[in-house]
Amino acid sequence: MNMRTQVGIIGAGPAGLLLSLLLAREGIDSIVLESRSREEVETTIRAGVLEQGTVNLLMEMGLGERMQREGAVHHGIELRFDGEGHRIPLSELTNGRTITLYPQHEVLRDLIAARLNHGGHILFNVKDVQLFDVSSHQPRLQFVHEHEQMELQCDFIAGCDGFHGVSRASLPEAIQTVFTRFYPFGWLGILMQAPPSSQELIYAYSERGFALVSTRSPELQRMYLQCDPNDDIAHWSDEMILEELQLRLATRGQWQLRIGPIIQKSILAMRSFVIEPMQYGRLFLAGDVAHIVPPTGAKGLNLAVADVRHLAHALTLFYKEERTDLLEAYSTTCLRRVWRAEHFSWWMTSMLHRFPDDDPFQQRMQRAQLEYTVRSRAAAASLAENYVGLPFEW
Ligand code: FAD
Ligand code: DHB
Repeated sequence: MNMRTQVGIIGAGPAGLLLSLLLAREGIDSIVLESRSREEVETTIRAGVLEQGTVNLLMEMGLGERMQREGAVHHGIELRFDGEGHRIPLSELTNGRTITLYPQHEVLRDLIAARLNHGGHILFNVKDVQLFDVSSHQPRLQFVHEHEQMELQCDFIAGCDGFHGVSRASLPEAIQTVFTRFYPFGWLGILMQAPPSSQELIYAYSERGFALVSTRSPELQRMYLQCDPNDDIAHWSDEMILEELQLRLATRGQWQLRIGPIIQKSILAMRSFVIEPMQYGRLFLAGDVAHIVPPTGAKGLNLAVADVRHLAHALTLFYKEERTDLLEAYSTTCLRRVWRAEHFSWWMTSMLHRFPDDDPFQQRMQRAQLEYTVRSRAAAASLAENYVGLPFEW
């Protein structure tokens, strides 16, 4: 069966779904192809921190109603080391900007509902997506949906299919440069049924490794522990996880970790990754398929949003004014922000984790950086402006 659309989008993650909505707002037609089921997309636990710019964009598009009701606005974060907490007053340091804690899968539920309610097409459970003729003016996508072989003819293809997606492979090797860095640690992430232990996120550096206290709702808390990236989650009993959290987060003051049943736990590896350029012919890459950051700076989802905002704008000017300049500049425009976020995420990660091969000198360096960050207003402001997110025009 043959179909036609203006923009064929691979992947119903934050990048693909938001792109389809941004395009629809400008009267540009798209079809989203997603390999997973709707239920899986809507229940997979991932990010939690939305930058101010991401929140503003969702609100401006009329997609922020539930986020405003159920999300939590935070004005600061805590950096904790040597048994003491130090608040970084994000809003005070950034002219009132904030972050919002609202889970990625809830954002996805809102985006899917908005797209489907307005008659948009998202095909879930598609298989074997293949790209053809991406360097021509009529690229095509072939795939299987409900046992039927389909072809989708497009003007453009947006590869929004995440790090393990297929679209990146359509960039000829001769034109691409790939940058990768693996970290010798991973994160063990848990969901715990308990009241919040803190009003703001806590990023803790300790001799035993990094720990992060985040939140999902007044009843559900999200926490992470630095661990061996090759460790098996079955080796971590709930008691071990709780003990490790207590040890890494211990303070000299009154603070106490509030605990409850752990209802989910998993381990993720950490890497930095960028592919340049993010475009070839009529194929445009956006989000995790083009770049990965270690999660410490909470930048991944927000970068995906920034990419598709640029892409939607460039496509809009192409259709409305036949302009190609913004499409041509797409990769360069996005990569400026991507590399800023790569640096910030690497910097936060390097400052806050224990490296297996570190020595007393490296530990002193980390401590010096932490001390400087919490004692110097300029250093704290630098962390804050990156953490709440630089303007889209960056
Ligand atoms: P994805 O969300 O990966 O979406 C890609 C979609 O494409 C998926 O639904 C996938 O099923 C689909 N797909 C893949 N291959 C194919 C194919 N061949 N055909 C069709 N469909 C396909 N970021 C933040 O900004 N803040 C945070 O606090 C944060 N915390 C994180 C915590 C964790 C534990 C993790 C794992 C990530 C976190 N991130 C965070 C990163 C964030 O989750 C990702 O950067 C974000 O999901 C990227 O969105 P995306 O749309 O580019 O890709
Ligand atoms: C969360 C994830 C992050 O990567 C981070 O830096 C802060 C919070 C979260 O899942 O809540």
